[in-house]
Amino acid sequence: MNTVLMLSVLLAAGAEARPQVEGPTFCRDVAPILFANCTSCHRPGEVGPFPLVTYEDARKRARQTARICEKRIMPPWKPAAGRETFKNARILTDEQIAVLKAWAEAGAPQGDEADLPPLPKFPEGWHLGEPDLILTVPKPFVIPAEGPDIYVHFVLPLNFKEDRYVRACQVLPSNRRVAHHGVPILDASGTARRLAAKHGGDHYPNFGGPGFIPRGFLPGYAPGQLTMEDETDDRGLTLPKGTDIVLQMHYHPTGKEETDQPRIGLYFTDRKPKRNPCIVALANNDVWIPPGEKAFRRTDAFRLPVDFEVRDIWAHMHMIGKEVRVWADLPNGKRKELLHIPDWDFNWQESYLYAQPLVLPKGTWIRAEFVWDNSADNPRNPNHPPKLIEWGEGSTDEMSGLILGGVTVRPEEEWILWAAVIGHYFEMENKAKEAQKRRQQNPPAAGR
Ligand code: HEC
Repeated sequence: MNTVLMLSVLLAAGAEARPQVEGPTFCRDVAPILFANCTSCHRPGEVGPFPLVTYEDARKRARQTARICEKRIMPPWKPAAGRETFKNARILTDEQIAVLKAWAEAGAPQGDEADLPPLPKFPEGWHLGEPDLILTVPKPFVIPAEGPDIYVHFVLPLNFKEDRYVRACQVLPSNRRVAHHGVPILDASGTARRLAAKHGGDHYPNFGGPGFIPRGFLPGYAPGQLTMEDETDDRGLTLPKGTDIVLQMHYHPTGKEETDQPRIGLYFTDRKPKRNPCIVALANNDVWIPPGEKAFRRTDAFRLPVDFEVRDIWAHMHMIGKEVRVWADLPNGKRKELLHIPDWDFNWQESYLYAQPLVLPKGTWIRAEFVWDNSADNPRNPNHPPKLIEWGEGSTDEMSGLILGGVTVRPEEEWILWAAVIGHYFEMENKAKEAQKRRQQNPPAAGR
C-alpha cells in the first residue's frame, strides 16, 4: 500500500470512529480549561458552591460559566496584574474564554470521550507526608448557616523551650466548604493569649487584623493551593521560644450550619536559617467615612531603613473597600507599582506571590492608598441607607492594612527593619487617635 492510500484509509477509519463535532466539545476543549482552572475549588467538599467535574456538571452551567468567566468574576483573581507579576495568578486567556462561550452557544456538546483528559490528582490531607508536629484547634468551631463572614483567631501556644526552625507548614481545615482562608500568624507579645482569655477561651473574634503586630507569618491555607518547601536555601523560619501561633481563619457561611476544626502541620529542620522572613506593615486607622462618600481616601507611607527583598504582598479592607494601590518610590526617582486591586472584593483576600523577588533599596518609600465607597451605589454597602462608618474590628466597621513579606538583603539588618516597622505602626496609631480627638472636640459638618 502506498503512503497516500494508507493515510486516507486511516483518516477514513478515524472519521468513522469519531463523529467530528464542529467547534469546541467538552471532552476535547472545555474539560482541560475547567480541570486546570476551576476544579481545584469546584469539586465536592471544596469551597466552590457546585462541582465542575463531570460533563453533566459543566453542561448544566455552560451559559453561566461562560458569562461569569467573560466578566472575569471567575476564576477569582483581584489584582490588575497577571502571571508575569504574580506566580499564583488565576487568569483565563481570551482564547479560553472564547472557547467556553462558543461551546455554550453551540448547546454544550460532549464530544468524544476518548479526548477527555484525566482529572488532575488533588492531594488530600498532608501534602508533604506526616508532619513533625500537628497543632489542633481544641474544639470544633461552629459556623452558623447565615450571616456575615466570620474572622476568628485561634491561639495555639507552642511552649518551646528553645528556638525551632521550620522548613514547611500546612494549614488543614477539617471542612473546606466553609474555609475561605487561613493564616498562621506569629505572636511574640502574649497579646493573643490575653485577647483569647478575655473572650473566655482559646480564640477571639477580631474581624481582619489579629489585634497585635505580627512577628511573622507561616504559609497559610487558600483553596486549591499546594504546600511547598521553601525552595530557597536561605529562608527558613525561626519559631523563637515563647512564640505562639495564632491561626486566623476566614469563614463564609454556606446556607447550612457547619463546623471546622483546623490543624496546622509543622515540618522542622535542624538547619538554622540564614535569613528569617520579615514584614513591612502599612495601615491608616484614621477611618471616618461619611454616608454618601463615593471615594474616601487614606494613605500611608513607610521609608525602608535597609535593603529589602519583597516576596509577597497582602492587602486588607472590609465590605465597602473599593480600591487599593501600592507602589514604591525608589531613591533614583523611579516608581514601581507593587499592587493594584481596582475592584476590591472582601471575599477574596490572599497573599500574592511575586514571580520575581523585588529588591527595594534602602531609602525607598513604600506608599499605599486605600479607597472606600460609602454611597448607596455600592452594592456591597451593608447599610441601606448608608451611614457613618468608622475604624473598627467588626464586620460593618472599616479598616485598612497592607503587609509586604520578604527578607532583608543582609541578615544582620532584620532587627533594624523590625524596629522601624513597630515605630511606624505606633506613629500611625497616634495620628489616628489625635484625628479622632479633633473630630470629637469639633465635629465636622460633613466630610473628613
Ligand atoms: C479559588 C477557588 C475557586 C476557583 C479556582 C474557581 N472558583 Fe468559581 N467560585 C468559587 C466560590 C467560593 C464561589 C462562590 C462565590 C464567591 O465566594 O465568590 C464561586 C462561584 C462561581 C460561580 C457562580 C458565580 C455567580 O455569581 O453566579 C460560577 C459560575 C463559577 N464559580 C465558575 C467558575 C469557573 C468556570 C472557574 C474556572 C474558570 C472557577 N469558578 C474557579 C471558588 C472558585
